[in-house]
Amino acid sequence: MKTQSNLVRYTVITAAMLFLGTAEAKAAGDPERGQREFLACVSCHSAEPRLHKTGPSLANIWGKKAGTIDHFGRYSEAIVNSEIVWNAETLDAWLRNPLAVIPGTFMRVPGLNNEAKRQDIIAYLKHISPVSGEPALKPDAGANPADLSDPTPDYRVTALRLCQNTYHVTMMNGETHKFWEFNLRLKTDSTDKGPPKGQPALVGSGMRGDRASLVFASPSEISPFIKEKC
Ligand code: HEC
Repeated sequence: MKTQSNLVRYTVITAAMLFLGTAEAKAAGDPERGQREFLACVSCHSAEPRLHKTGPSLANIWGKKAGTIDHFGRYSEAIVNSEIVWNAETLDAWLRNPLAVIPGTFMRVPGLNNEAKRQDIIAYLKHISPVSGEPALKPDAGANPADLSDPTPDYRVTALRLCQNTYHVTMMNGETHKFWEFNLRLKTDSTDKGPPKGQPALVGSGMRGDRASLVFASPSEISPFIKEKC
């Protein structure tokens, strides 16, 4: 009798495990949907190797220890000292609630409650990591800051003049745009996507709107480029 009930119990457990196994397989995410869901991340992350924004590039995250992406110089101590390795489980917990996984992390975003969306994003992150052994989807071009390395006259700036509180930005194509000094952001992009030396670029809604960013190759270019003259 005893043996039989044990056998029954064993069968029930095996069936439950099989069932759970199938449920897990069904819940597996879809990398293509994940690429679209990744839009929730692109203000801070790119899927392109070495293109770091507020957060590190997520192109090679799979199987890595947290806080170890090369050349990202803005990690919190909390993530660097954590012992977490990124895989399906740790990423799921992280995306649900980053602060619960690593208290003190700089990724201060409300977690993603939607399980299906989390799974899709995780599938995408796996897909774009070379160690997954699968061909990478093309990183979403729209996710990255503009490539300013091509000397296209339409965004190339030849002169910048400050008169009272107005910046006058003269473009290579002859146009001049005016901005209230508070609405023109002076930035640097020292990567190979940044503008060539001495040839800053005007980007952002400023071409039509009232705000824009003027991007320089290096900080030392900024002051000499600005002429204070009315
Ligand atoms: C508001 C900006 C912001 C948003 C939005 C954001 N993150 Fe982050 N993320 C960060 C920052 C900053 C870090 C570095 C955390 C630290 O240093 O503690 C980070 C770290 C990470 C890490 C760990 C990287 C490593 O090198 O260990 C992963 C994985 C991650 N984010 C995934 C995502 C995903 C997926 C999304 C979208 C669902 C997302 N993040 C949205 C800012 C953001």
